[in-house]
Amino acid sequence: MEIETQAHRVGIQAVVFSTICLVAAPWAVSPAHAQLATDARAPAPYTWDLPPWAKPPPAPPDNPVTAAKVELGRRLFYDGRLAADGLRSCSSCHKQALGFSDNIALSWGVTGELTSRNAPGLTNVGYFTFLTWRDPRVTSLETQALGPMFGMHPIEMGMAGQQSEMTRRVSEDDTYRKMFANAFPELENSITIETITRAIASFERTLVSFRSPYDRFRFDGEQDAISPQAKSGEALFRDPRLGCASCHSGVNFSDAAGNDTAPPMQAVYHNTGLYNVDGQGAYPTSNTGLAAVTADPADMGRFRTPTLRNVAVTAPYMHDGSIATLSEVIDFYAAGGRHVREGTRDAGDGRSNPLKDPRMSGFSLSSQDKSDLIAFLEALTDRNFLEDPRHSDPWKSTTGR
Ligand code: HEC
Ligand code: HEC
Repeated sequence: MEIETQAHRVGIQAVVFSTICLVAAPWAVSPAHAQLATDARAPAPYTWDLPPWAKPPPAPPDNPVTAAKVELGRRLFYDGRLAADGLRSCSSCHKQALGFSDNIALSWGVTGELTSRNAPGLTNVGYFTFLTWRDPRVTSLETQALGPMFGMHPIEMGMAGQQSEMTRRVSEDDTYRKMFANAFPELENSITIETITRAIASFERTLVSFRSPYDRFRFDGEQDAISPQAKSGEALFRDPRLGCASCHSGVNFSDAAGNDTAPPMQAVYHNTGLYNVDGQGAYPTSNTGLAAVTADPADMGRFRTPTLRNVAVTAPYMHDGSIATLSEVIDFYAAGGRHVREGTRDAGDGRSNPLKDPRMSGFSLSSQDKSDLIAFLEALTDRNFLEDPRHSDPWKSTTGR
């Protein structure tokens, strides 16, 4: 069922793609653009505000990050006109104050239909090799943005089949017309689905957080930036007995992000023993993880490792939002999986899930250790990022929305 749904969605994306290919075809661009491209008014690059040890996230060669695209993408990200109801936007499910996640297990789209999975935060999303919880085919932010806008399973922004309505709405706005022309001076017709997704992706690449108290302590040499508890918590996090850092690895605390070489697809999806509904390792049919895409039974229950940056503000947790607090997440790891009691939905003992990652073997932890580990995770909260005016809703000041 899940696979069928997936195939259907891919079908829809294929239609969207072919539209885009036509729009992007070289013959659709007038010869005049060549002149403009070498023009002195060529878009200025975006000015990154990064600590010296951090690199900007990679961008596709055909969509370099420029200041004009980022500013445009920001407006689009917060604009309800991109959704069928004229109200819900990317920001409805990805809220800045919550690390660009939301605070409910599943979110709802324009028809009230719930999303299949929990809305992840978008902190440092530009560094991820594989996007979303469990679909390794989604490897670029440009492609990803088509999902919420035009996807049917679930319906999020509900614009399937309404590509021209979307570009029409955007074209009606004088400010947008100017901004698109500035951002894409090489294109005669600069307002297309492709340029919309390119701008949004550029904005998303700037959602970079490297100024948490932990960063200041670990990389900038500020010894007092985090508490002694958080320091002990980091030692526990990196202790092989707990194993956290082997999956939540690197500067982005995920084996799926921030490595110089792209990790192999199989290496970044793990079964953590959240479920075991049939005693043989099955997850609930609505969310079977990577297996829903690869159709390989060994991929049952495998989900991509999320980043832990800003994790203290992105509750509830896990791909389905089924764990409410960080304290409960740690209990879950200590137990080596989750025992969903008989008589409740999706009952089964995840601790004995035969497909569980071997690192999920459980461990014992004193209550002091547990609060230290939480103090460490809280030290990854970057207030500058959550309040950065460059990432905020640009419509608020002008329209009061
Ligand atoms: C109705 C709620 C909703 C809306 C609206 C929405 N999203 Fe999402 N977003 C989600 C959910 C749920 C997921 C997880 C999907 C999955 O893993 O299958 C997600 C995943 C993502 C991801 C992948 C993050 C990662 O860690 O890999 C990105 C990027 C993203 N959304 C950007 C956007 C953009 C851009 C828009 C607007 C064009 C948007 N979203 C609109 C709910 C929403
Ligand atoms: C085998 C790899 C692996 C290990 C070891 C591991 N994690 Fe995870 N972690 C994951 C994966 C995969 C998920 C998502 C699982 C899902 O949703 O089904 C996750 C989810 C989380 C989440 C929820 C994040 C969110 O945004 O929903 C937190 C918090 C977390 N892990 C912390 C830890 C801590 C602390 C440890 C050590 C005690 C740890 N992890 C060990 C792979 C791992």
